Amino acid sequence: MTSGIRHFTDLSAVSDTTLRGILDDAVARKGRLKAGERSRPLEGKVLAMIFDKPSTRTRVSFDVGMRQLGGETIMLTGTEMQLGRSETIADTAKVLSRYVDAIMIRTTSHERLLELTENATIPVINGLTDDTHPCQLMADVMTIEEHRGPVAGKTVAWVGDGNNVLHSLLEASARFRFNLNVAVPEGSEPEQKYIDWATGNGGTVNFTRSPEQAVEGVDAIVTDCWVSMGQEHRARGHNIFQPYQVNEALMKRAKPDALFMHCLPAHRGEEVTDEVIDGPNSVVFDEAENRLHAQKAVLAWCLGA
Ligand code: CP
Ligand code: NVA
Repeated sequence: MTSGIRHFTDLSAVSDTTLRGILDDAVARKGRLKAGERSRPLEGKVLAMIFDKPSTRTRVSFDVGMRQLGGETIMLTGTEMQLGRSETIADTAKVLSRYVDAIMIRTTSHERLLELTENATIPVINGLTDDTHPCQLMADVMTIEEHRGPVAGKTVAWVGDGNNVLHSLLEASARFRFNLNVAVPEGSEPEQKYIDWATGNGGTVNFTRSPEQAVEGVDAIVTDCWVSMGQEHRARGHNIFQPYQVNEALMKRAKPDALFMHCLPAHRGEEVTDEVIDGPNSVVFDEAENRLHAQKAVLAWCLGA
């Protein structure tokens, strides 16, 4: 962030104290909203949202979040823009910077996000790439702390595919100082650079092939779809993932009050059973709600409100 522009590209790109400040602000904003207080610190500000992939939560929570803060949004899809007719991402960044106050982008390659960031003169927020999903982890950490107190020192297990959400979970484990157990099938490992960054920045990460071992006595079990958007080419096949399904038998190995977490959308009967996702330990809809509160705090930080 040498330019001084407050981009929110990854948890590794924002300091731990800043991330903690954003989360504290998110909790405070949620409390004020529930108490019926309204303020419009982003009055007159416009957020452009670019979607190269589908979305329900990210799209609606950023839109509603901006409105609650007094700002406005413009919804763009890559194919409807000149981006879809080969205008460069760099030129797009320069043009949008002349019109709007911030850009949120959900896209394919992480390089597209970084190119947008390098060429924009306004804050850019990562709304998911093939590599990471930092806004999701802000909501997830907020949700864990809401239910179980400070996340530092707790143990979280990831079971399933080594995907973008796991990459951000690895970064979150270092930034927020919780232990992370990871069980993924052979061929679905997360990228080494995310493991190296987490372990090189104070994270404690344990890898195993055994989902049973990964969840033993943990405070929370996290999973996600077995095939991410646009990742069909690296799909491992459902038979490989079947042992990694989060079901009641697996949940029983964690602490009795262990949280079940999933960024959604869920593929019921695949990575999680109905009994678990609809069960008493599931906080998936709190996670979805907290996307709104956490992202409002991210927006306020990016825009200095
Ligand atoms: N969890 C999440 O990012 O959901 P959407 O794909 O619906 O935005
Ligand atoms: N890993 C999933 C997350 C969806 C919110 C995907 O990228 O499709």
